[in-house]
Amino acid sequence: MASLAVLLLLASAALPSNGAAVRVGLTRIHSNPDVTATEFVRDALHRDMHRHDARFTRKLASSSEGLTVAAPTRKDLPNGGEYLMTLAIGTPPLSYSAIADTGSDLIWTQCAPCGSQCFKQPGQLYNPSSSATFGVLPCNSSTSMCAALAGPTPPPGCSCMYNQTYGTGWTAGIQSVETFTFGSTPADQARVPGIAFGCSNASSDDWNGSSGLVGLGRGTMSLVSQLGAGMFSYCLTPFQDTNSTSTLLLGPSAALNGTGVRSTPFVASPAKAPMSTYYYLNLTGISVGTTKLPIPPSTFTLGADGTGGLIIDSGTTITSLVDAAYQQVRAAVLSLLTLPLADGSDSTGLDLCFELPFETSTPPAMPSMTFHFEGADMVLPVENYMISDSGVWCLAMRNQTVGAMSTLGNYQQQNIHLLYDVQKETLSFTPAKCSTL
Ligand SMILES: *[C@@H]1O[C@H](CO)[C@@H](O)[C@H](O)[C@H]1NC(C)=O
Ligand SMILES: *[C@@H]1O[C@H](CO)[C@@H](O)[C@H](O)[C@H]1NC(C)=O
Ligand SMILES: *[C@@H]1O[C@H](CO)[C@@H](O)[C@H](O)[C@H]1NC(C)=O
Ligand SMILES: *[C@@H]1O[C@H](CO)[C@@H](O)[C@H](O)[C@H]1NC(C)=O
Ligand SMILES: *[C@@H]1O[C@H](CO)[C@@H](O)[C@H](O)[C@H]1NC(C)=O
Ligand SMILES: *[C@@H]1O[C@H](CO)[C@@H](O)[C@H](O)[C@H]1NC(C)=O
Ligand SMILES: *[C@@H]1O[C@H](CO)[C@@H](O)[C@H](O)[C@H]1NC(C)=O
Ligand SMILES: *[C@@H]1O[C@H](CO)[C@@H](O)[C@H](O)[C@H]1NC(C)=O
Repeated sequence: MASLAVLLLLASAALPSNGAAVRVGLTRIHSNPDVTATEFVRDALHRDMHRHDARFTRKLASSSEGLTVAAPTRKDLPNGGEYLMTLAIGTPPLSYSAIADTGSDLIWTQCAPCGSQCFKQPGQLYNPSSSATFGVLPCNSSTSMCAALAGPTPPPGCSCMYNQTYGTGWTAGIQSVETFTFGSTPADQARVPGIAFGCSNASSDDWNGSSGLVGLGRGTMSLVSQLGAGMFSYCLTPFQDTNSTSTLLLGPSAALNGTGVRSTPFVASPAKAPMSTYYYLNLTGISVGTTKLPIPPSTFTLGADGTGGLIIDSGTTITSLVDAAYQQVRAAVLSLLTLPLADGSDSTGLDLCFELPFETSTPPAMPSMTFHFEGADMVLPVENYMISDSGVWCLAMRNQTVGAMSTLGNYQQQNIHLLYDVQKETLSFTPAKCSTL
């Protein structure tokens, strides 16, 4: 189960090497404090954060219903732990699928010509020279990751090369601009010109099963920011369900209605990249069944230096908790079951696994687990925190072994309708059967 692999921390940064191009390395998970280019980029993103709201809001104005993007789930592929969204790029529009990731900002896809350094993608490779609306994004453009590096008078033709690293994998290319088309049917289709994106011609092969990634984070480069969407929502269909499609909505129509909707404020993100991208939540405790676990209240506190805290991330599969909390959850789950322990580390990479009597045994009934967020309890039914795999029944969480930041992953978000309101700075959610929405 490759999708359960622990995310590795990779850091990369290269300073501008010549006048015509600027290279920027970014890390997705903060681990290496001496990444100087990251500092530059942080400043650029910070500075740009609110400057272009007016312009971007205009783009959505013609589509007051918001944009509807189909996001089918994939489980049978190496990166089956990710959710892919379908969108189209260029003129004429070429449809492709990309990982929807609230833990990063860059929108990218593979571009022809693409040699040995490209991964095998489903569907046709996008070719900029066949599109009437492709452009290279000048490095002094305010939406460029390189704006801060380019200086006040960049050399003519200066363009921005990037190498974005993630917890798993990396992608490199040239920053560009294109018209994107969202929505699958003509009725809900929206064409949006001038979206800054990464035209990748070299990537690690961690992305097969998709053709790229769409960043939904807080930074200026993300789809949410570029559209000035203000809010977006998604509802992730269960992992076992490989057939259903769920919907990611951006804009006012994403609003959650009805009773049973709970809301919790986002905790202000640190100014420093990449933490400035993340959506932090105030987790004050965890219960298993009706038992509140003895986790000190400060366990998930975001430090003034940007360490710690808990983020919600659609692009990470398995929730990771700092060890002080993880050990309490582990002990509580362990105390609920009398099944023999199994070593799940080989098959699943998970730490706490039980042996079922037979490969086909139905796992035992277990109570729900509750994440107590400030002002809102998120109830996780057993299928959101346990996972079964050929006779093994495992806790689908892990301890955070590098750094002190905890992450609420997408396995734990199944069948919950989630709304990120970046104007009100709240996360709202309600249980839902995502395949029927
Ligand atoms: C991008 O960064 C990764 C991680 O540091 C590195 O392995 C890879 O070779 C880099 N790719 C390019 C094209 O620079
Ligand atoms: C970018 O630089 C070019 C000159 O290289 C200049 O004409 C243009 O106005 C600059 N754009 C911005 C947004 O600063
Ligand atoms: C990717 O494109 C850049 C900019 O055109 C070029 O410098 C680089 O050599 C290309 N890399 C590969 C692997 O083709
Ligand atoms: C994805 O890449 C891995 C190696 O990185 C390979 O074993 C696997 O067959 C690839 N899957 C697809 C669907 O291309
Ligand atoms: C998923 O779709 C396939 C092919 O259409 C079908 O054979 C299978 O039974 C479906 N699975 C579920 C769980 O509905
Ligand atoms: C909630 O209500 C608003 C306004 O009536 C509507 O635009 C939106 O689509 C509704 N959201 C959902 C998820 O049904
Ligand atoms: C988190 O919530 C608790 C309980 O409501 C509150 O006392 C605390 O100030 C909150 N922390 C932050 C960083 O908002
Ligand atoms: C993570 O949990 C495992 C198993 O419970 C434990 O052995 C290990 O020491 C923990 N690691 C850290 C960094 O806390």
